[in-house]
Amino acid sequence: MLAIRLTAEPDRLDTVALPVRPGTDDAAPAEPVPTGVVLPDGVADEAAALAPLGRFAGRAGEIRAQLRPGRIPARLLLVGVGEGDEAAWRTVGAALVRATRDETHVTLALPAGVSPEAVRGLVEGLLLGSYRFRLGVDSDAPALTGVDLAVTDPAAYEQAVAVARTTAEMTRLARDLTNTPSSVKNPQWFADQVAEAATDLPELRLRVREPEQLAAEGFGGILAVGGGSASGPRLVELDWHPVEARTHVVLVGKGITFDTGGISIKPVPAMKLMRKDMAGAAAVVAATLGAAALRLPVRITTLAPLAENMVSGAAFRPGDIVRHYGGLTSETTNSDAEGRLVLADALAYAVRELKPDLLVDLATLTGANAVALGTRTGALYSDNDQLAKDLLAAIDAAGEAAWRMPLPADYVEHLGSDLADLHSAPTQGGGSVLAALYLREFTGDLRERWLHIDMSAPSWCERDDAELTRGATGWGVRGLLRWLATLS
Ligand code: BES
Ligand code: MN
Ligand code: ZN
Repeated sequence: MLAIRLTAEPDRLDTVALPVRPGTDDAAPAEPVPTGVVLPDGVADEAAALAPLGRFAGRAGEIRAQLRPGRIPARLLLVGVGEGDEAAWRTVGAALVRATRDETHVTLALPAGVSPEAVRGLVEGLLLGSYRFRLGVDSDAPALTGVDLAVTDPAAYEQAVAVARTTAEMTRLARDLTNTPSSVKNPQWFADQVAEAATDLPELRLRVREPEQLAAEGFGGILAVGGGSASGPRLVELDWHPVEARTHVVLVGKGITFDTGGISIKPVPAMKLMRKDMAGAAAVVAATLGAAALRLPVRITTLAPLAENMVSGAAFRPGDIVRHYGGLTSETTNSDAEGRLVLADALAYAVRELKPDLLVDLATLTGANAVALGTRTGALYSDNDQLAKDLLAAIDAAGEAAWRMPLPADYVEHLGSDLADLHSAPTQGGGSVLAALYLREFTGDLRERWLHIDMSAPSWCERDDAELTRGATGWGVRGLLRWLATLS
């Protein structure tokens, strides 16, 4: 990860970046933002002369480079900061690391009096925009290793930088877990990664249930879905329990380490990215690790039901009836609707055994998420208006996106089965909505304290875009951490 340093006396001046904002009205040219930082003679004047030239508008992330051979700095960058709010600075950070990937170091002078929130956005942009996932020899690795942020009063920003660093580090962990190929990433591997990531946080309690234990306690959904794989299922349970906590949140994340669809096998194009089908588990685990690292005063128990949905002689079949934790049964007409089966067990367990104040689950649950909302927006469901509002606000502030969807009462009848309590894969359409309604059946007394996000779409992106990098996005980590930080 890039080394980010706050400094009042910038001393690495090979490449210096200065902020530039749009002119005060449409006709006015872009202009440098005063920084208060002491820079080599003539640099500020040169920036002021360069800013108004040509089409440079000072939009967030717009960059103009000036080479100055034999002088200090040898490279001067004008960096557009647009509105100068947190979101703009996130874009600036990501653009800057891309523009300087072939430099070893860059010093960015920050505007005098810049807000800590803006610096948080900037640091998240720097650390997320420079993320890469590569296995093996990386022949095209960026040269950039460090960014110095020059400010007059570094102490005012230490906290914002620390929070941003933890947030980005955990988002990067979620990306790593999700990008990892499924030849490596089986349920036990995922549990091992959680254990490893938690070693620096000794107060975090981790329990991993193996198939024997899952059978003894009746986790029939996890066992059915995991039954077809040579790598057996697991249930990860992480607990962050600070003494001062007054609220207990349970987070649940779908952890299908590969989804072939099972016997109801997926066609080639639909299967090729199904290593990402544990992105919900990655997000809730990473957010919990982040909450513990930041010592947030809220109790968080995190459940990651992990299974590989495979095709084999031991796989569960369409038409099988699964008995979930707690006793509810599902008729499974489509083995590709596996996520809800493992989540149902975890939700029922949370409701019966953990009895939290709030219950939130994240899952790459249906292709219908993208049909309804496109590629960047999660589908959020809850009967609790306040909870929905709070999560939406946190997600939005964090730079992620979700949209609240309905849970229509008159669709509930589609979940009916002649043979079991519920039908796991109704065919009436509205796939993301029906999946949410199915999950709600397992929330018991906590129905009004539950929130679900179908994050199939935003868990992945096809191209670099601001702080997102091609592949896994780590979606949910940033929004969850912001929301958790508002609880106590
Ligand atoms: N993991 C998939 C959903 C998915 C699709 C995630 C595309 C990310 C991108 C899930 O297990 C699934 O297969 N859902 C089915 C449900 C259907 C069988 C009721 C779907 O969406 O088609
Ligand atoms: Mn599936
Ligand atoms: Zn799936």
